[in-house]
Amino acid sequence: MAKYIVTSSAPLRGEVQISGAKNAVLPILAATVLAGEVCEINDVPDLRDVQVMCNILDSIGCKVTQEKEISRVTVDSSTISNSEVPYALAKLMRASFFITGALLAKTGKAKIAIPGGCAIGNRPVDLHIKGLRMLGAQIYEDNAGIDAHAEKLIGNLVYLDFPSVGATENIMMAATLAEGTTTIENAAEEPEIVDLANFLNKMGAKIKGAGTDTIKIEGVEKLHGTRHTVIPDRIETGTFMVAAAITRGDVLIKNSVPDHVRPVIAKLIECGAVVNDEVDGLRVRGDLKPLVATDIKTLPYPGFPTDMQAQFMALLTTVEGTSQVFETVFENRFMHAAELSKMGANIRVEGRKATVPGDKFTLKGTQVISTDLRGGAALVLASLVAKGTSEILDIFHIERGYENFVEKLRGLGAIIERVED
Ligand code: UD1
Repeated sequence: MAKYIVTSSAPLRGEVQISGAKNAVLPILAATVLAGEVCEINDVPDLRDVQVMCNILDSIGCKVTQEKEISRVTVDSSTISNSEVPYALAKLMRASFFITGALLAKTGKAKIAIPGGCAIGNRPVDLHIKGLRMLGAQIYEDNAGIDAHAEKLIGNLVYLDFPSVGATENIMMAATLAEGTTTIENAAEEPEIVDLANFLNKMGAKIKGAGTDTIKIEGVEKLHGTRHTVIPDRIETGTFMVAAAITRGDVLIKNSVPDHVRPVIAKLIECGAVVNDEVDGLRVRGDLKPLVATDIKTLPYPGFPTDMQAQFMALLTTVEGTSQVFETVFENRFMHAAELSKMGANIRVEGRKATVPGDKFTLKGTQVISTDLRGGAALVLASLVAKGTSEILDIFHIERGYENFVEKLRGLGAIIERVED
C-alpha cells in the first residue's frame, strides 16, 4: 500500500492549476446515458472515482474512450445493452447510485446496489428513492439494492426533506425524459448542480432554476449528444487556499471560480489571511498578518462546505486562539480530529461540535491514517507545518479526489513523496 512521507516545509509559493471538479464530472458522466449518442466531456480529472464511473458506463454497454493526456472522456451511449450495474462497481463509491435516474429514464429499468454506509455517516439514499417514486417509478428495495422499473416517468412535484446533492441530481436527470413538468423544491444549490443542468440543457433538456432551491424540468421526448467542459473543482481550490494559509505562504490558484468558494474566502479573511481575486486566479497570502481563531459551521451551499471542514480544522490548529467547528451536514465527520490530535492538536469532539485549540507550534510529525478523502487531505496540510516528518497511510482515500496532489504540492515547494510500502 502506498503512503505519503511529508517533511516540515517552507511556506508554499508559486502557482497551481486546479483540475475539473470531481463532483461535477461524476453526475455528468452518468447523464451521458440519456443522450443515446456521443458526448465529449473535457477537463475530466484522472481520479479513481472517475475511473469507477467510466467502468460502470462500460459495464452497461456504453463505449467509453478515455484520453487522459488531454483530460477528455468520450461516451457513446447508443450501445447500452443492460440496466444492471455490477455489485462490485456500485459498492466502490456512493456516486455510483447517481446513475439510477438516468438509466431508469433512458431504459425503463435500473438495478443497482445501495452504496455502502460510508465512514463519514450513514448516508442513506431514501431521498433519491422517494423522488424517483414520485415520478412514477416502481422501486423494489432490499438490503442488497434496488430494482426500479418505469414504462414512462411522469413529471411531479418533489419536495426534498434535505437539499441532498445526489438526490437533486438523480431526480433532475430522470425528469428530463419524463412526461410533463417536474418541480424539485428544497433542491440543492451547489455549483455542480448548475454544471449538470447546463450539460443536460446542451443535450436538449429544458431545466430552469438550477442553482436556486426550486428547479423546474420540462420533460422532452429525446436528448442528444453534446460537448462540455467541466467546472473547476472548488474543493481542490479551497484545499490549496488552506495550504497557502497554513504554511504562511503566497500561492496563486489558477482555474478557480471565486464565486464558488465565497465561504472559504470569508473564513480565511476572518483568520487574517489575505485573499485577492486577481486576473490570473485567486491569490492567497498567509504571510502578511498573524493568523487567529475563527468558528466555522458547515451547511449546504452557499454555506461553508462540509468537504472543506477537515482542511480548515487543520489550519485552525495552527492559529492563535481557540476555534469551534460545527458539522451539520454529516453526523460522523470528525474522524480526522483524532488523527490531528495524534500530531499534538488536542481537539475535543462533543457530538457535532469540535473545539480546536490553536498554536503555531503545536503540530509534530508522526504516523497518521487517512480516514476519508478530505480528512486525508487535512493530514497532508497539517504535515506540511508539523515539526519533523509525518507518514500518512491509507492515501487511496486522498487519491479518489485529488489529481496529481503530490506533484502540485511539490510545485509549490512542499517536501512530500509518495512511496509504495
Ligand atoms: C455530495 C458530494 C460530497 C459532499 C456532499 C455534501 C458528490 C459525488 N459528492 O454527496 O462530496 O460531501 O454532497 O455537500 O457530489 N441524505 C439522506 N438521504 C438521502 C441523501 C442524503 O439522509 O437520500 C443525507 C446524507 O446522509 C447527508 C446529507 O443528506 O447527511 C447530505 O448528503 P448529500 O447532499 O446527498 O451528499 P451526496 O450527494 O452523497
